[in-house]
Amino acid sequence: MAIFGSADIGMDLGTSVLHIVVKGKGVVFSESACVAFERETRSVISAGDEAKGMMGRTPRNIDVERPFREPHIRSFDLASKMVNSYLKDVMKKWRVSRPRLFLALPCGLTPTERQTVMEMMVDAGVRSVVPVDESVTSAIGAKLRIDQPYGRMNVDIGGARTGISVFSMGNQAKWRIDAFGGDRMDAAIMDYMRRKHNLIIGENSAEMLKINLGAARPFEPQLQEEIYGRSLVSGLPRGVMVNSDDITEALQQPIHEFVNVLHRFIEQTPPELASDIFDAGIMLSGGSARLYGLEELLAEQMGMPVYVADEPELTVARGLAELISNPDAYEKINLGSPYKEDEVSD
Ligand SMILES: Nc1ncnc2c1ncn2[C@@H]1O[C@H](COP(=O)(O)OP(=O)(O)OP(=O)(O)O)[C@@H](O)[C@H]1O
Ligand SMILES: [Mg+2]
Repeated sequence: MAIFGSADIGMDLGTSVLHIVVKGKGVVFSESACVAFERETRSVISAGDEAKGMMGRTPRNIDVERPFREPHIRSFDLASKMVNSYLKDVMKKWRVSRPRLFLALPCGLTPTERQTVMEMMVDAGVRSVVPVDESVTSAIGAKLRIDQPYGRMNVDIGGARTGISVFSMGNQAKWRIDAFGGDRMDAAIMDYMRRKHNLIIGENSAEMLKINLGAARPFEPQLQEEIYGRSLVSGLPRGVMVNSDDITEALQQPIHEFVNVLHRFIEQTPPELASDIFDAGIMLSGGSARLYGLEELLAEQMGMPVYVADEPELTVARGLAELISNPDAYEKINLGSPYKEDEVSD
């Protein structure tokens, strides 16, 4: 029987997907971080996967937005309504009253944005918020031993961004946030379809092509799919047959740029840590780490082992679950800075 009372919960505030974990239960909630709303009144019509499905299909008076998308939080009002309904659903369903929330915050936020997001959570009914750095929780969820005096590298490739971190002795020794991620790949596919096929396609269609046909480099046998969009020439709907080579070609440029970012990052990493990473390899996480062939391509281009974590889109959430279940095991890990100072409660 569920215990009604105070407990710890965790939230991975992804730009694409938001996950919530409950102590002892694991990941209990995963929904697109997406809101459909009435443009004039900004009242929310739908949130989550349903809202994502409406993208590009709404009438004029309705918009769909991902409120946590980079570069900065654009729509605090929508974000707040979305988070409020998600948290309330989870607290009710799992009968958790006024929990403490471990919140995996994106590292790119300004102090004011961090503060606003944490206050949003308190408004939604949590007792207090403990901010933790999402790179640290991702590494914990990917089972990297980041407490050792040994360099470990995690690259979390999500929707709107990629977090690149090197850890040693429980701290981030070096980190960087890059704009590479699923959104950039989707945009490259939309651009390719416009240039090569005179076809305008929506974000969801581009994402579907990436997942179904896309790869980091060409592969055989080819896969193909018909995609519908609006012809740039006639302005009317038109179907075009595309194959995996097309989509892979569309992804070349962003992937090439990303490889350069990783190269520069390693070059600027202190030599002892870089040599540890050269031995131990790079751990990829985040949903975009699932791109077919990315692991092999990066291993080849970086000249070191590259691995993909199990269920890579869940590493941050699993790291949070691990943290709230075994807090003592992570006493020596710096969970994010500043940590204690910006804990917010009501
Ligand atoms: N099989 C797949 N191949 C390629 N990309 C995929 C695949 N599955 C999911 N993705 C992409 O993963 C991205 C979402 O990843 P994830 O859930 O880690 O993002 P997020 O945590 O919400 O974002 P961020 O960490 O940037 O805030 C989406 O862009 C999605 O298209
Ligand atoms: Mg993420």
